[in-house]
Amino acid sequence: MTIKNYAILAVSFAVLISLFAGKAFSSDYTEGKIIFKSKCQVCHFIEGDGNLVSAYQRQYRPKDFSKSISWEGLSEEKIKFVLMRGQGVMRPIPLNAEESKALTGYMMNELKK
Ligand code: HEC
Repeated sequence: MTIKNYAILAVSFAVLISLFAGKAFSSDYTEGKIIFKSKCQVCHFIEGDGNLVSAYQRQYRPKDFSKSISWEGLSEEKIKFVLMRGQGVMRPIPLNAEESKALTGYMMNELKK
């Protein structure tokens, strides 16, 4: 084998490995779930798991994102926009790019129905 062939082989392996690694990583939403539970769930679960609804929730109706109706007109871009700018009584919740990606990945792929 020539050096060129070795190089091609090495590159092919690298691409293959990164494809598998990427796939395994992108289908794991553990980090996003942790962020959601710690930063969003306190407000955004109205009927979620039978917990008592707080006065805050009764008044301001933060969406229960586990319900399909909550997703009407909602996109990943909209979620990121609301996190950055806030909306109504919800104050902005600044997240870095990595956290924001993990959070929306979890919301779009596991919460969304
Ligand atoms: C302190 C309570 C509270 C927390 C914490 C909170 N939210 Fe909210 N959120 C609200 C309320 C209330 C609204 C409704 C605001 C309005 O439209 O007047 C809202 C609205 C939204 C909307 C807009 C929904 C739509 O369709 O218009 C999105 C998206 C959202 N929240 C995402 C999140 C995410 C993601 C987190 C966690 C990082 C989070 N929120 C944390 C209270 C909260």
